[in-house]
Amino acid sequence: MHGIDTLLSELEAFGSSNDAAHAERARRMLNITRDTGQLLAVLVHARGARRVLEIGTSNGYSTLWLARAVQALGGSVVTVEKAQDKFDMAQANFVRAQLQGVIKQLLADADDVLRDAPDGAYDFIFLDSARQHYAQWWPQLDRVLAAGGVLVVDNASSHYADMAGFLDAIGADSRYTVCLATVGKGEFIAVKTGN
Ligand SMILES: C[S@@+](CC[C@H](N)C(=O)[O-])C[C@H]1O[C@@H](n2cnc3c(N)ncnc32)[C@H](O)[C@@H]1O
Repeated sequence: MHGIDTLLSELEAFGSSNDAAHAERARRMLNITRDTGQLLAVLVHARGARRVLEIGTSNGYSTLWLARAVQALGGSVVTVEKAQDKFDMAQANFVRAQLQGVIKQLLADADDVLRDAPDGAYDFIFLDSARQHYAQWWPQLDRVLAAGGVLVVDNASSHYADMAGFLDAIGADSRYTVCLATVGKGEFIAVKTGN
């Protein structure tokens, strides 16, 4: 098996056992499912995305899926995490996968990263973080997503109620073409098809 595939399998086993053992959210990895990782990779390739932003790194499982796809396209991933312990775990995993060269890790609050990003900075944004902030982040997400860019939001089925206003607002925005993919915990996909 390819090295990164071995690492992904190890992280899946670790995430399951770790999250079963800890009730406290801060101690859980809360990784996406494998089929969600596959979906992200397919979407990055389909879009030809070379500038990818991930909000919510945890220990880097989802980042690895994004980074492997982006590496093949000659691009890079910026991934944001505010917890130092998760940041450190992810860093070790990126080195192990030999993907650190295509991943820029930011130990920061997504609020600040979004505020400081230039207009149209990203072709692809994966949002898997603090759901209560999504509605507040929406103007900035919209601003930093390039024309033709793709936004993917995790937990759109499992935690729809937490972000109904946010998802419904994007769905009602004529500049976006959206769908809910019944993959993993529900992946809301929005493509910025209009200006
Ligand atoms: C669901 S986990 C991410 C899982 C990861 N995407 C994966 O699938 O491997 C959410 C992460 O977002 C981080 N987070 C929460 N609020 C944040 C914020 N405002 N800025 C940056 N990171 C944040 C948490 O510390 C947590 O590690």
